[in-house]
Amino acid sequence: MTQDEMKKAAGWAALKYVEKGSIVGVGTGSTVNHFIDALDTIKEDIKGAVSSSVASTERLKQLDIEVFDCNDVTSLDVYVDGADEINAAREMIKGGGAALTREKIVAAISNKFICIVDGTKAVDVLGTFPLPVEVIPMARSQVGREIVKLGGDPVYREGVVTDNGNIIIDVHGLSITNPKELEDKFNSIPGVVTVGLFAHRGADVVITGTPEGAKIEE
Ligand code: 5RP
Repeated sequence: MTQDEMKKAAGWAALKYVEKGSIVGVGTGSTVNHFIDALDTIKEDIKGAVSSSVASTERLKQLDIEVFDCNDVTSLDVYVDGADEINAAREMIKGGGAALTREKIVAAISNKFICIVDGTKAVDVLGTFPLPVEVIPMARSQVGREIVKLGGDPVYREGVVTDNGNIIIDVHGLSITNPKELEDKFNSIPGVVTVGLFAHRGADVVITGTPEGAKIEE
């Protein structure tokens, strides 16, 4: 089974968490794209979606799934999104697709975070995948210096502008043994919009695509 087939297995398995008549929180990325394809098959039964990126919004709209403004929705039952890494405590690194800020916002209004991944995303310690940080452009150098003080090696993601008009710094060389603490430290650096550590708000359910099919951990 290819990695994409495992992503597909996870994406389609998430459908069972979508309640009739609900508005669904939709993340971003290649695994979520499979979930959106699955959502298309039940679109008559749902009200619509709140999206975490321009890319997912376009995909949803192409399928005639209504996309609601996040400001018009107080809470969501479920948010379905992928991850770049996930540990046993269901803390994650996200933002490989640069959508981390909107992803964190939609996750924050959701009662249940359903994380859909293929088996390669599970790790003992977060940090092998470079940690994405969304940064206000004028703060790039200063934030870089602060990241070095935290033990990281900051690398500017060339040519990427986020949906919010900001830049991404990918932090290499971290071994994140205390994700919540590190999330707080990054959040306190002036100019940091969002760090791609989802530790305070981790996943509630993990669906892992494996060669044997989707494995669900509640
Ligand atoms: C985008 C994300 C994605 O969830 C993450 O990068 C995983 O992507 P994929 O499903 O393509 O492996 O955080 O900002």
